[in-house]
Amino acid sequence: MVTAKEIVDMYISSFEKKGHKRIPNAPLVPENDPTTLFTSSGMQPLVPYLLGEQHPQGKRLVNVQNCFRAQDIDEVGDNRHTTFFRMLGNWSLGDYFKKEQLTWFFEFLTKGLGLNPRKLYVSVFQGFNDIQKDTESEVIWKQLFSSAGIDPKDRIYFYGVEKNWWSRSGLPQDMPTGEPGGPDSEVFYDFGPELHIHEQSQWKDKPCHPNCDCGRFLEIGNSVFMQYKKQEGGRFIELPHRNVDFGGGLERLLAAVENKQDIFQTSLFQPIITSVENATGYTYSTHARQMRIIADHFIAATFIAAGSIKPSNKEQGYIVRRLIRRGLDNFYEIAGKDIAGIIEQIVEQYKDTDPELANAFPNVKSILLAEEQTYKQTLHAAKKFIAKRYKIGDELKGLTEIAADDAFALVTTHGLSPSQIKSLGFIFNEQKFAEKMKKHQTLSKRSATKKFAGGLADDSEKTVMGHTATHLLHQALRDVLGNHVHQTGSNITSERIRFDYNYDQNLTDEQLKSVEHIVNDKIRENLPVHFEMMPLSRAKETGAIGLFDNKYSDKVKVYFVGNYSKEFCGGPHVDFTGRLKRVKILKQENIGHGQRRIYAVVNPKS
Ligand code: GLY
Repeated sequence: MVTAKEIVDMYISSFEKKGHKRIPNAPLVPENDPTTLFTSSGMQPLVPYLLGEQHPQGKRLVNVQNCFRAQDIDEVGDNRHTTFFRMLGNWSLGDYFKKEQLTWFFEFLTKGLGLNPRKLYVSVFQGFNDIQKDTESEVIWKQLFSSAGIDPKDRIYFYGVEKNWWSRSGLPQDMPTGEPGGPDSEVFYDFGPELHIHEQSQWKDKPCHPNCDCGRFLEIGNSVFMQYKKQEGGRFIELPHRNVDFGGGLERLLAAVENKQDIFQTSLFQPIITSVENATGYTYSTHARQMRIIADHFIAATFIAAGSIKPSNKEQGYIVRRLIRRGLDNFYEIAGKDIAGIIEQIVEQYKDTDPELANAFPNVKSILLAEEQTYKQTLHAAKKFIAKRYKIGDELKGLTEIAADDAFALVTTHGLSPSQIKSLGFIFNEQKFAEKMKKHQTLSKRSATKKFAGGLADDSEKTVMGHTATHLLHQALRDVLGNHVHQTGSNITSERIRFDYNYDQNLTDEQLKSVEHIVNDKIRENLPVHFEMMPLSRAKETGAIGLFDNKYSDKVKVYFVGNYSKEFCGGPHVDFTGRLKRVKILKQENIGHGQRRIYAVVNPKS
């Protein structure tokens, strides 16, 4: 039987044979994208290239990308949803289009993975406003099914934008101006009609089709024809070139290969589920929902923690905290005691495809176990808070009714969820509580929207400026401190830039001033910025600096800022440094391991 690792290897090599270059798995926490907390699809790091920038590796790309989708957290518990998954991806950046894409994916499924073509169904875009029905894909699918000896009638289903349109923000109306998107064509694997018509099925009296939720069909791949960009006023225009953006979930492809309707029963998840059974004494057959949540949430938390994110109350840290605590709630519910064995099994299952995980394991384990302790203390403090307010003993018996205000305090101050409050034995007026929460959420949403709105034109322009500013900062630091200094990381938002570099002492005020001075001189000189693609060896000869992942590349992109700086970089950048107006260094920090961090702003108000 084909394993998850073999599916990855087969997919990558089949697309490499078709002229695709493998690009690395981008970090789960994006480095320079302020619009999102996590990488949630393979295309995310490629947005500038889908919009028209030239990619250093060419027009055909392939990879396997670790993805996390926080928005799916409440769906986990059924047979197929997970928050963490690996996505197989291939891209055409203005090169091949529908014919090649659909044919190659169909061949990969039927010849590569050996799936029976009779088990496959597809969906195609039905059209929306000015964007036509995708009859071109329909014709291609008809030919593909016919050539496999299958009558295409009843194999091809048309759906509207709810099902067959893809963009990072979903539906056309939810896309911000400047966002790319397009119609798509999905492939579904059929586990058999009995899942729809069996006696307990709530769907049995309704017609079944690939997007039916009865569990009969599983979507295993999505070819997006990314050819539009949203305009001011809501209309769509064609991008400079027509792209293909394909994404297929590895866990789901494995489920199809193993003909397991429940992805948690595949060879990838099964050993992890067994470790949950061992740690709790319960069986999967009676407690599937809890065990799926435990497995998924601890897998996701393991991968996020391996990227050095610690549980906290904000941004990515808050999500890891939520995953671990929700996982623990379900674990305690079925009498679980020690999570160490589950974490070990997760690393065991993923280390072949993600070798970094094995190195990060000791750190990940201590992060998760520390959070388990913090959570126990939180629960204890929450009980004490209520016990004091209601003058009852710490040992609660039965249910205690508390005021909605106190439930609200447990959520906002102690960080508990409503279901955690209930599982502690407290009940409260749910309507009053919901009203209070709604008011609170509207207020916090107002401040969060700005940050996570995604691709706002204004914000992305500032981020581009931030990119160019880091190149200037990098070179200026080397001018002042010496050429042994180099960048070790960066993070750019529309509000500020954060730049890490190796240096074992704080800079003096004078040194900081000279760095800032040089950067601003280069801005005043209004230097032109351009890039060149060149073989890696030549790029190194030019003395280009910068973080460079040379795992799979032979050709690289080097950005030149006048004659002042040469740096490996994917871009995009401003065209002239004068656009930055001014850069101001806000502060420096010691971040340990011989590294310093500088915060700076571009075009500050004061
Ligand atoms: N980018 C295509 C997908 O996520 O389905």
